[in-house]
Parts: sequence; structure tokens; C-alpha cells
Amino acid sequence: MSYEISLQPGNHHFRADADETILEAALSAGLLLPHSCRDGACGACKGKVLAGEVDYGNVTEGTLPPDEREAGYALFCCARPRSDLTLQARTVTRAGDIPVKKLPCRVQKLQRLAPDVMLIDLKLPASEAFQFRAGQYIDILLADGQRRSFSIANAPHEAGHVQLHVRRIDGGRFTGQVFETMKEKDILRFEGPLGGFCLREDSTRPVVLVAGGTGFAPIKAIVEHARHTGTTRPMTLYWGSRDRAGLYLDELARNWQDEIPGFSYVPVLSEATAEDAWSGRKGLVHQAVLDDHADLSAHEVYACGAPAMVDAARSSFLATRGLPEEHFFADAFTFANQTN
Ligand SMILES: Cc1cc2nc3c(=O)[nH]c(=O)nc-3n(C[C@H](O)[C@H](O)[C@H](O)COP(=O)(O)OP(=O)(O)OC[C@H]3O[C@@H](n4cnc5c(N)ncnc54)[C@H](O)[C@@H]3O)c2cc1C
Ligand code: FES
Repeated sequence: MSYEISLQPGNHHFRADADETILEAALSAGLLLPHSCRDGACGACKGKVLAGEVDYGNVTEGTLPPDEREAGYALFCCARPRSDLTLQARTVTRAGDIPVKKLPCRVQKLQRLAPDVMLIDLKLPASEAFQFRAGQYIDILLADGQRRSFSIANAPHEAGHVQLHVRRIDGGRFTGQVFETMKEKDILRFEGPLGGFCLREDSTRPVVLVAGGTGFAPIKAIVEHARHTGTTRPMTLYWGSRDRAGLYLDELARNWQDEIPGFSYVPVLSEATAEDAWSGRKGLVHQAVLDDHADLSAHEVYACGAPAMVDAARSSFLATRGLPEEHFFADAFTFANQTN
């Protein structure tokens, strides 16, 4: 059974089967809705059901509180159609024709960037082109069908490989393996590219980039892509970490400041130690943005990192700095749903 879906803004139309999510059907139709985790954890895909019936799927009250559900909101990565629908997403863009693929890859480099951060460089098969947008992520496919999401840290013009920045999670199955047993030449499988966290290149708004920890990875891809395309938009990067070691490519970001016109870099430490000898900004990274901007109404913000940081940035920038919701883009590093 399939249903007719009308989608605003932009008056798009596509069909969705009863057993596929609205997000899956929209992506198959070449329409990019905001999304990140695709399993109900981050709330990025939340939108309104203006008419029709959906099966809400496996959502928690944390990401879709009862009052929002009553007001007509649904998580489009979980909701499946039960009738023809009219939907309102925060933004809709044409995804273009970048295919999502499942590919093998070979670990060609492992480099410890910080005590708990590993750079993995993956060589892609020469026979299969892999396209992606700066800021997107891939899912590493584990042998038993589970997946682990990691953002691509290099820009698309560097073809043939994918760079990841992996933070070690205590007791983490995959990230533990990365630090303990993974070696160069190991073969992995992944699916990608995924996600809608990428620079809106048709906009001229000044850009504020907010990274927490390894949330720097997709931001690095975005900055390197912007430099490659010669954008002249003003860009300010706020990179927050607990300590100095967590700013694991600090020198690279400082160099961008010298090399890219209109680019500035503000590193922020929340728990600097005496050994860090830190004379720079201190506190939470979203607070540094608030301190520097009385008004964000004309900006575009890209935030990536721990869910708490992304939530704090979203709520404070929208509520107190006039940032329009459709100009806030985020990837929250939620944890994998262990059942998929
Ligand atoms: C879209 C997206 C992009 C991401 N990109 C990156 C990236 O570029 N770099 C990166 O380092 N991480 C990234 N993450 C987070 C990363 O996917 C998880 O840290 C990873 O799945 C952990 O896998 P694991 O097998 O080691 O841990 P698991 O075995 O899945 O988890 C072990 C325990 O740790 C908890 N846990 C898992 N992940 C985290 C976490 N991130 N923080 C705190 N506790 C956790 C679990 O709830 C569980 O209790 C991204 C997440 C998403 C959704
Ligand atoms: S909750 Fe739907 S994409 Fe994260």
C-alpha cells in the first residue's frame, strides 16, 4: 500500500509505502529533509503532520514530548504513513543525485590525534565512485548488522578516501576496537553518505560554526570545502573541548585563520588544567557564541557534537539571539540504537 505525500515548504509531492518512514521515502524521492541519527534519538527530523494519519513509530518522550505530539509533530525518521499526508518540514532541499552506497574500504592510516581521538583514513574501492557533501556522515557496518555513525572529516574534492575522527567511548564496542585491535590494511564496510548536515551554498549569510570535541570532523570538511570553492562568506569557528588535548587539530584551525579570508577561530576550554597553561576563552562553547553575538538573526549556524551542546546551542540561539530555526543546522552525536 502506498500513499501520496505533500510536503511544505516548496509544495513537493512524492509517494511513500506503508512500511517505509517518511524520511526514507523523501530521500528516495531526492528530497533532503533535516535529519541526523535516523533512529529517533536526536529530534533533527521533527516536523508537523498538517493532515492525515501516521504511525509514530518507536519514539521516546525525550525527543517527542506528548504536548508536541498532540500539537501535530512527528519524527519523520520514525513515522510511517497510514493515509495520504500533508507535512511541514523545517526545510526541504533537493538532494541531487548523490547515491547512498554500501561499500568495502581498507584502513590505510591510523593516527592518534589525542589520547582519546583516533584519525582513521579509509581507502575506497578504485572501481566505485563515492560522492558526498561536506558535513555528511557514514555508518560503519558491523558484522552482526549493528551500525556506528561517524562524520566524514575531509572535503569531497579529496576523492578516493574518507577520513574519520573517532573518540573512544568507555566500554564502547566499536571505538574500543579502533583503539585496541584495529590495524592498517583491515577491511571495513560502510553505508553512506548520510545526513543533511552540510553547508547551504546558495546562502550568503555569515556562518557561525560550533564544534564540540570530535564534532570538529564535519566542520573541518565544511571549512575545507568552502576554501576549495572560494567562498567569501564570513565564517567564525568556535571549537570547544574540556582540555587542550581535545583541540586535537588546533594548529590546523589557527592556520585557516591566516589562509582563508573572512575566517576566524575561537578555541574554548571548559575544564582547562594548570598544565594546559591556557590564556584563551574559557567556559562552554555555546556560551562563547552568546557572549560574542547580541543578534544572530542574520546568521546561519552549524553545530556539531554532544547532544547536550547541540540542544543548548539550539535553544539559546533561537530564544535569545533571534536565530531563525530554519538557519540552525546540527548533527548531534547521539548513541547508536543497539537494535539496528
Ligand atoms: C550522525 C552522527 C555522527 C557521528 N559522528 C561522530 C564522529 O565523527 N566522531 C565521533 O567520535 N563520534 C561520532 N558520533 C558518535 C558515535 O557514533 C558513537 O560514539 C559511537 O557509535 C560509539 O560506538 P561504540 O560501539 O564504541 O559504543 P557502544 O558500544 O555503542 O556504546 C557503549 C556505551 O557508551 C554509550 N555511548 C555510545 N556513544 C556515546 C557517545 N558518543 N557519548 C557518550 N556515550 C556514548 C552507549 O550508550 C553505551 O552505554 C556520531 C554520531 C552520529 C549520530
Ligand atoms: S530523531 Fe529523526 S533523525 Fe534523529
